[in-house]
Order: sequence, then C-alpha cells, then structure tokens
Amino acid sequence: MLVFVLRVAFALLCVHATRSALCPAGCECSEAAHTVKCVSKDLQDIPTGIPAYTRNLFITGNHIRRIGPECFKGLDNVTTLSLSNNRISEVESHTFSSLRNLRSLDLSSNQLVLIHPEAFTMHNHTLRELNFSRALYNHSSVTNLATALRWSSLDTLLGLDLSSNGLIFLPPHMFFHMSSLRRLHLANNSIVAITNETLLGLEHLEELDLSHNALKTFNKEGLMELERIPKAKLHLGQNPYTCTCGIESFITLLNTSWDRVVDVEHLVCVFPVELRNISLLLVRKMVLGCHHVEESNNLALQTSYVFLGIVLGFVGLMFLFVLYLNRKGIKKRIYEMRDTCREMWEGYHYRYEIDSDPRLSQLSTSADV
Ligand SMILES: *[C@@H]1O[C@H](CO)[C@@H](O)[C@H](O)[C@H]1NC(C)=O
Ligand SMILES: *[C@@H]1O[C@H](CO)[C@@H](O)[C@H](O)[C@H]1NC(C)=O
Ligand SMILES: *[C@@H]1O[C@H](CO)[C@@H](O)[C@H](O)[C@H]1NC(C)=O
Ligand SMILES: *[C@@H]1O[C@H](CO)[C@@H](O)[C@H](O)[C@H]1NC(C)=O
Ligand SMILES: *[C@@H]1O[C@H](CO)[C@@H](O)[C@H](O)[C@H]1NC(C)=O
Ligand SMILES: *[C@@H]1O[C@H](CO)[C@@H](O)[C@H](O)[C@H]1NC(C)=O
Ligand SMILES: *[C@@H]1O[C@H](CO)[C@@H](O)[C@H](O)[C@H]1NC(C)=O
Ligand SMILES: *[C@@H]1O[C@H](CO)[C@@H](O)[C@H](O)[C@H]1NC(C)=O
Repeated sequence: MLVFVLRVAFALLCVHATRSALCPAGCECSEAAHTVKCVSKDLQDIPTGIPAYTRNLFITGNHIRRIGPECFKGLDNVTTLSLSNNRISEVESHTFSSLRNLRSLDLSSNQLVLIHPEAFTMHNHTLRELNFSRALYNHSSVTNLATALRWSSLDTLLGLDLSSNGLIFLPPHMFFHMSSLRRLHLANNSIVAITNETLLGLEHLEELDLSHNALKTFNKEGLMELERIPKAKLHLGQNPYTCTCGIESFITLLNTSWDRVVDVEHLVCVFPVELRNISLLLVRKMVLGCHHVEESNNLALQTSYVFLGIVLGFVGLMFLFVLYLNRKGIKKRIYEMRDTCREMWEGYHYRYEIDSDPRLSQLSTSADV
C-alpha cells in the first residue's frame, strides 16, 4: 500500500517535471499542432502540467470559477486561449501577464462579477482579440469591466466582442485607450442611447455593431459620437426606432450617408403604430409630424387663454358674491354717503346763496352774532 502511494506521488511529480512530454488528465494534447484541448470534463480549476509547447489552449465547457496569475505560468508560447463556457466569476490581478505572446483571449459565456482593475494587464502589447460575449453575470458588472479595460494597456487590440450581455449603458471613456480597435461588437444588448464621449478614442474603428439593442433614436449627442468614427461601417438594425419628430436628424444622416449603414434596409419604425414596419429611408419629414408640434403649441396657448378667462371670470363672480353678501352694509354705507353728500351740498349751496345775496349775508352775519 505504502509503495503504491509513493509510486503515485512520484508519478505526479513526474508529470510536473516533464510538463512538455505528458498531457494533463482530462485534456487532449497534440504536440504537432501545438494544441491542448480540455473540453467538457467537469474541471474545477485550470489543470496543471499543460505542455510548454502549447500555442492553442482550449479549456472550455468546464466548471472553473476563478482564474489568477498562477494558472498560466510557463506558457510563454500560448497565442490563443479560450476559456469560454465555464462559470468564471472572478479574474484576479495580472491573470494573463505571463502569457507573453497571447493574441486572442475568449472569455465568452461566463459569469464575470469580480474583475480586478489590473486583470487584463499585459506587458508585451500582443493582444489582438478579446471576446466577452455573454461573459458578464449581469449588466452591473460592466462597471468593473470598464475599469479593467481602461487600466489595461490594450492599445494593440483590434477586436472586442461585448455582445449579449444585457448592457443598458456604456460607461463613459470605456474604450478610451483602445486606439487601434477596428471591430466593436455590441449587438444583442439593451443599450438605450449612445451618450457623450462613449466612443472617444476609437478613431480607427472600421465596424460597429449595435443591432438588437433598445435604441429609439440617435439624439444630437449620439450623432456626434457617430461622427467620431467616420470610417466605421455601422450595424443598426433591429432597434425599436420611434418615428416621431426627434428622429429627424438621424433620418437625415441615413439619407446622406446610408452606405455607412450596412443593414440600412432593415431599419424600420416600430412606433408609432401607423408607421410600424415602414423603412426609415421612406419616412419623410411630413409624416414625422414636426409641424403638428407647432400646432399643438398653438393649441396649448389657446387652451391657456381659455383657462385664464375662466379664472378671471371666477374671480369676478367671487367679487360679486362678496358684494352681494355685504349688500346691507354696503346699502347703509351708500345711504350714509349720500346723506353726508347731501348735507355738504346743501350747506354749501346755502352758504353760496347767502354769499351771493348781500342782504342775506348781512342777515347771516347778524344771525351769527
Ligand atoms: C516556443 O516558441 C518558440 C518559437 O516559436 C520556439 O523556439 C520554442 O521552442 C517554443 N517553446 C517550447 C517550449 O516549445
Ligand atoms: C515580448 O514578446 C517577445 C516575443 O514576441 C519576447 O521575445 C519578449 O521577451 C517579450 N517581452 C516581455 C517583456 O515579455
Ligand atoms: C465570441 O464568442 C462567441 C461565442 O463563443 C462567438 O459566437 C463569437 O463569434 C465570438 N466573437 C468573435 C468576434 O469572434
Ligand atoms: C448584479 O449582480 C450583483 C452581484 O450578485 C448584484 O448585487 C446586483 O444586484 C445585480 N444587479 C442587477 C441589476 O441584477
Ligand atoms: C441575446 O442575449 C441573451 C442574453 O442577454 C441570450 O439569452 C440570447 O441567446 C442572445 N441572442 C442571440 C441571438 O445571441
Ligand atoms: C460632452 O462632454 C464634454 C466634456 O466632458 C463637454 O465639454 C461637452 O459640452 C459635452 N457635450 C454635450 C453635447 O453634452
Ligand atoms: C431624403 O432624400 C430624398 C432625396 O434624395 C428627399 O426627397 C427626402 O426628402 C429626404 N428625406 C429626408 C427626411 O431628409
Ligand atoms: C413587420 O414585418 C415583419 C417581417 O418583415 C412581419 O413579420 C411583421 O408581421 C410585420 N408587422 C406588421 C405590424 O406589419
């Protein structure tokens, strides 16, 4: 028994020592093709003992949850690494930095939540392709991913796939350091708008896929962002475009540079119902109803006048009502006023007559005396 245990231990040591000659359990190794595949073997961790000749490494369809820098030590020659279809939720700092020749990294179909800001830091600037399709646990994880992408030196990256992640927004400056990026896939998310400075730094972009998202229109900001990437072909189909006044400038852009939009014939109105399935290219300014907006403004103005009239009328009625309630007091006041007026008038009149008649004035003075 003891001998057997020792033998097993020795065998394991041997596996380590002769990394290049043997193949880890659960994997298929081909030295001629420089390829190692560990596919759907319920692996919980990255296997140890992957041969150093490996250039293409596929560890897919397993149950790996965490990856860190110790996983890929000594694999200098790996250029293609696929870790898709695992359950990876955590990527530690500098996980891939020992893969000095890595060109393509596929992390699609995982559940990333904890992404260290320096997870994708690589010293040799060799990475060309990065696939995060369906890789995020939920759309909140995009904040961590954006930080990691900003911190990593990905200035040689050519392709980035972020499709099918349920993304609602793109953090600003997310792609800022990817000055070489040519292809950006954002299809099948729930992006509602392209906001200010989202596409900053992507001057060389040649392809942008925003199909199957939740874009209702491109507002001024969004159109300015599209102007940042003048060379890029655009995929904009399968979005719920709302053909009201706000979409006018977008339609004008389509009208003038429709050759930029690869799937321009698939761009149709989804709202309002009357225009459903109408191609955006066929929508004319007339139907957008922008002139209706002015009319409705006028209507609003008229409504407000009518309202003002009603309010004034109501105030008047209240005033009359108050007067009515006070009618006795007011009557009394008026009688009093009339009486005092009459007295004053009569007194005045009387005095005037006395003043104008010298006899009477004499009389009055004598009477006064
Ligand atoms: C790695 O690749 C280089 C050049 O492609 C080669 O010379 C070297 O032998 C490879 N390393 C191993 C361990 O096979
Ligand atoms: C960068 O990659 C080259 C091979 O392409 C290698 O010779 C060199 O050692 C690498 N540099 C670093 C810092 O890893
Ligand atoms: C990324 O991975 C998904 C799923 O594995 C695949 O369908 C897609 O084509 C890949 N993206 C690119 C740009 O290769
Ligand atoms: C996303 O996942 C995190 C971590 O489990 C959780 O805290 C957060 O509430 C989730 N967000 C949404 C929008 O589901
Ligand atoms: C779109 O993304 C969802 C997850 O967000 C996924 O379930 C669905 O299969 C994707 N559709 C396509 C066509 O890739
Ligand atoms: C976009 O952001 C920049 C600075 O962050 C600001 O100067 C500019 O006015 C913003 N543009 C719009 C349209 O909001
Ligand atoms: C699009 O262009 C056509 C002519 O090329 C023009 O008749 C039409 O009014 C334009 N539509 C819009 C919304 O600018
Ligand atoms: C819109 O067009 C699609 C296919 O082009 C069709 O399946 C759908 O029934 C149409 N909807 C309406 C409301 O016409």
